[in-house]
Amino acid sequence: MIPLYHEVITLPLTRLSTDFIVVGAGVSGLRAAIELVSHGRVLVIAKDSLRESSSEYAQGGIAAALSDDDEIELHEQDTLVAGDGLCNLEAVRTLVEEGPAAIEQLIEWGAAFDRQGSKLLFAREGAHSRNRVLHAGGDSTGHEIVRTLRHQAGQRPDITFQSFTSLIDLVQNGSNEVAGVLALDEHSGSTVFFEARGVLLATGGLGRVFENTTNPDVATGDGLACAWRAGAEIADIEFVQFHPTALYVPGAPRFLLSEALRGEGAYLRNASGERFMERYHPLKELAPRDVVARAITAEMQRLGTRHVFLDVTHFAPGFVQKRFPRIYETCLRYGIDLSSMQAPVSPAAHYAMGGIRTDLFGRTNLARLYAAGEAACTGVHGANRLASNSLLEGVVFGARAGSAMAELSPANSTAEPTQTNPAFPQIAEHELRSLTWRNCGIVRNRSDLSEACSMLKATPRRALPSPVRADFELRNMHQTAYLIAAAALARGESRGAHYRSDFPKKSPHFQKHSILNNSGSGLDAQIRFL
Ligand code: SIN
Repeated sequence: MIPLYHEVITLPLTRLSTDFIVVGAGVSGLRAAIELVSHGRVLVIAKDSLRESSSEYAQGGIAAALSDDDEIELHEQDTLVAGDGLCNLEAVRTLVEEGPAAIEQLIEWGAAFDRQGSKLLFAREGAHSRNRVLHAGGDSTGHEIVRTLRHQAGQRPDITFQSFTSLIDLVQNGSNEVAGVLALDEHSGSTVFFEARGVLLATGGLGRVFENTTNPDVATGDGLACAWRAGAEIADIEFVQFHPTALYVPGAPRFLLSEALRGEGAYLRNASGERFMERYHPLKELAPRDVVARAITAEMQRLGTRHVFLDVTHFAPGFVQKRFPRIYETCLRYGIDLSSMQAPVSPAAHYAMGGIRTDLFGRTNLARLYAAGEAACTGVHGANRLASNSLLEGVVFGARAGSAMAELSPANSTAEPTQTNPAFPQIAEHELRSLTWRNCGIVRNRSDLSEACSMLKATPRRALPSPVRADFELRNMHQTAYLIAAAALARGESRGAHYRSDFPKKSPHFQKHSILNNSGSGLDAQIRFL
């Protein structure tokens, strides 16, 4: 018999109190932390070094209607079209309206976006009707925004940081309010109960659940899985965006080759040297990401290859080095000189549109629990995110979540957590990732998804004497994979990034958000469409 998820054993527990806990030190977490300053002490917890987050690796940029020929309504329209009928209209309006001021604020705090003279430079990416993507250091936009926010946060004495501390579980008090988190402090090797009046999950994405991903190793769905275990609703988790162009070098990480390369005119070619996108979409290489990812997959299958090619050899001499220095240098390390050689690329999991269900201020259905950024789902991205809307989401909705949390009064009752030693899934990480990629990837169908659900549910689990970070990560990845498979199985249509070969069309019946609730018994999720 499979043991239940929690087996209670008593172990010593260190207890530390603060006012607000922010889990995650990427853009949304940092932005929220800054907003909380002067309302109490803020503790920012990061699983790895403070530099390790998906935000840090974001290349292309941050989109906002700031250029002379752009309009907020155009940005809104592009976001809605990409979202394929499933965007929360109010969330989109909030994003595009508050986006420009959020970027002005970053600039005021010192973010150095690329300029020509004094004028900001705007790039184009797929499915944008205008050049509206700001970038920094060419292709290091996320790094520059994180640097700016970290610098701001670092100057505020109310904010403290604790790195190498992994979220284990949320803790609730007798009134069912979230009262803090249990975390593994890797410095001391001990489990700590961090107690606070409010917790924000800004834990980023879940890409590592898939065999191929552009995400860093920290993206294991920790916040999502912890929130789900505690009873938070999860929305639209079947919508996982696959980025079309991750570098394909066997044995190497799937480094992202930014869509901005195609925005500057890069071509996609198949193994025969043909620019195949012309056959798939009138926008060719700048078609929506899901279209490009599926077209690449179809070409690879048709020609029996493991990748296609991204070609920038026609760019003006010196351009790729200057505009995309990080990408150029990284490819060079793998022996690919982009100025004269095509880069092998194939799709990889990149971004979760779904996540912990929140309102437009990061509030979840659990009292005193908030979520923001990729970990959250406001519905702003619908079924498919428009390129470069995620950093924008981080600053806009991170600030909103922080401002809402700031209003929390101290909790009425305290929590007395018993340290629990959960049961961990007995599956090799590579097997889990390969199952998720094979059965819940770019092209899905009922039989593969059912098989994934059954296999994940049947995975044996057992308690471990002294679990380490990798064990907690695997537990979260396993649950996250199940939620994706279950929601993808329930959505009998194709929409945005979710493609079902057995239901290849969009259905009005499914123009709804999927909401997953924890049924309280093992992995079972109750799913409804709203
Ligand atoms: C990219 O640079 O291609 C990624 C941008 C994004 O995911 O929004």
